[in-house]
Amino acid sequence: MDKFSSLIKLLPALLPLAMAAGTVRAADGGITYQEMADGLHMVMEADRTVYTRMVVNRLQNEEKVIKASEHFKDDKALPLPAQMFRFGSEMVAEKKPAFSYSLLSLWPINKQNAGKTPVEKEGLQAVAAKPDQPFYKEETLGGKKYYTAIYADRAVSQACVSCHNGHKESPRTDFKLGEAMGGVVIRLPMK
Ligand code: HEC
Repeated sequence: MDKFSSLIKLLPALLPLAMAAGTVRAADGGITYQEMADGLHMVMEADRTVYTRMVVNRLQNEEKVIKASEHFKDDKALPLPAQMFRFGSEMVAEKKPAFSYSLLSLWPINKQNAGKTPVEKEGLQAVAAKPDQPFYKEETLGGKKYYTAIYADRAVSQACVSCHNGHKESPRTDFKLGEAMGGVVIRLPMK
């Protein structure tokens, strides 16, 4: 919150820089689409990393107290990090906000998580090649214009790597710590 409000205060100073960098300004002249997407992503990434490191990796891999499982109810296990992410995104979607988000990959365990739109496919390729560089592009879907931002989803913990490499449905078995395993897609409707 603090970071966000100080960002807003800095905006008049940052705006010329952002515009020089080709950033699109929001229609109301306030925060840019890119800054909105970056701020949302910062929170998502922090929550996702904390859950994986402090809960899943600690309890499953280090202390061997409880496992994480897709069938967490039947198995009395922890939900997977990707399930936690999706439950959050579904709860947000119920509130009909002005944005949506999802976790996709070029090498999905669940085929539903493959990129579908041309922009998603292009962005997933781009962040896999350069994980430090987010991908931003406008796209038109169903006659509506969106600002789509895609961020690398990295293997922030050994738990990410060992589970995906060992999963029978995984099309890739050579992920390494720190690498991009997929991408977070944030979509903002444009005015
Ligand atoms: C215990 C196993 C396990 C762990 C730990 C795990 N994942 Fe996954 N991950 C899965 C499974 C299973 C899915 C598919 C879930 C679904 O959508 O049904 C998935 C989904 C994903 C997806 C969406 C594409 C796909 O493969 O379907 C990405 C990206 C991803 N995980 C990255 C990560 C990262 C990064 C970490 C660590 C922060 C991580 N995963 C930790 C098992 C795991």
